[in-house]
Amino acid sequence: MRRRHRAAAPMLVLLTLALIGVLYAAAGSATSAQASSDARGANAELIKQGQQLFAEGCSSCHGLGAQGGPEAPTLIGVGSAAVDFQVSTGRMPLAAPGAQAPQKPVIYNDEEIAALAAFVASLGPGPQIPTDEEINYQDADLAEGGELFRTNCSQCHNFTGEGGALSNGAYAPNLMNATPRQIYEAMLTGPENMPVFSNETLTPENKRAIIKYIQHMDEQPDYGGWGIGSLGPVTEGLFIWVIGIGLMIGAAVWIGARVR
Ligand code: HEC
Ligand code: HEC
Repeated sequence: MRRRHRAAAPMLVLLTLALIGVLYAAAGSATSAQASSDARGANAELIKQGQQLFAEGCSSCHGLGAQGGPEAPTLIGVGSAAVDFQVSTGRMPLAAPGAQAPQKPVIYNDEEIAALAAFVASLGPGPQIPTDEEINYQDADLAEGGELFRTNCSQCHNFTGEGGALSNGAYAPNLMNATPRQIYEAMLTGPENMPVFSNETLTPENKRAIIKYIQHMDEQPDYGGWGIGSLGPVTEGLFIWVIGIGLMIGAAVWIGARVR
């Protein structure tokens, strides 16, 4: 019987890995080409879906074209950030007009919120939902955040971020349940009695420092609100897993073959 070459097993592993790599690359470029050609259609599709959801759930107060009504303000020009903030914290849809829209259980899923936001954003320019990079506070300055929080936020939200009563039955809520995105959006859009902190007043870097400080006060891990945009890292992680473990198996087989 012919003796197999001692390198046969490792070669086979390497070939398999190469094949996986090629397939992965092909799939990747195919989906990204697909994605860019779909982007326009998908956006129009999203706006259409949002318009329908808006007609069903929001137009009774805000009007079919979001122009506003006797009980509710116009949403033309409030931007996607305001919609994402109001709906993802459960404030909207408002159950009944009252002193202040309370946070409630959220009734729309992430995709529906994105659709509502896209529809409102299509009516007029306004502050946009911050990107993942804009809210990435990892490298922000904690001490600066504390200082900015004490000068800009603590008079209403308290030094500990726990919130407190304001005049006329209004209150500033506890900040500990807000996700980084919601904190950023609250500053951008200034809900109800809260002032707007535009990017001229507090730069994006200032906002990230404040977010870091609030997260620091709230030692608990945050599992909410990060859903959108995490698809990339997952597939990349999978890729590293397959190749990384494949290489380790390859190395083990190679060492095994040499010892024999
Ligand atoms: C029962 C009436 C009612 C319904 C239904 C309702 N809203 Fe509102 N909405 C209001 C009122 C009143 C305000 C202003 C007071 C406030 O901000 O709490 C408001 C404010 C808002 C704001 C903030 C505007 C700004 O200037 O920042 C957004 C965004 C918004 N609504 C979106 C929605 C969306 C999206 C829906 C449907 C999912 C919805 N609303 C359903 C009454 C309503
Ligand atoms: C003048 C008082 C005031 C100041 C100053 C203020 N806020 Fe607010 N804030 C409010 C009120 C009132 C609300 C509730 C609005 C509502 O329910 O629609 C609020 C809501 C919020 C929310 C939403 C919380 C949640 O869980 O839904 C966040 C986050 C927030 N503020 C962050 C900040 C930060 C950060 C600053 C400083 C940069 C700040 N606020 C400054 C009054 C204030």
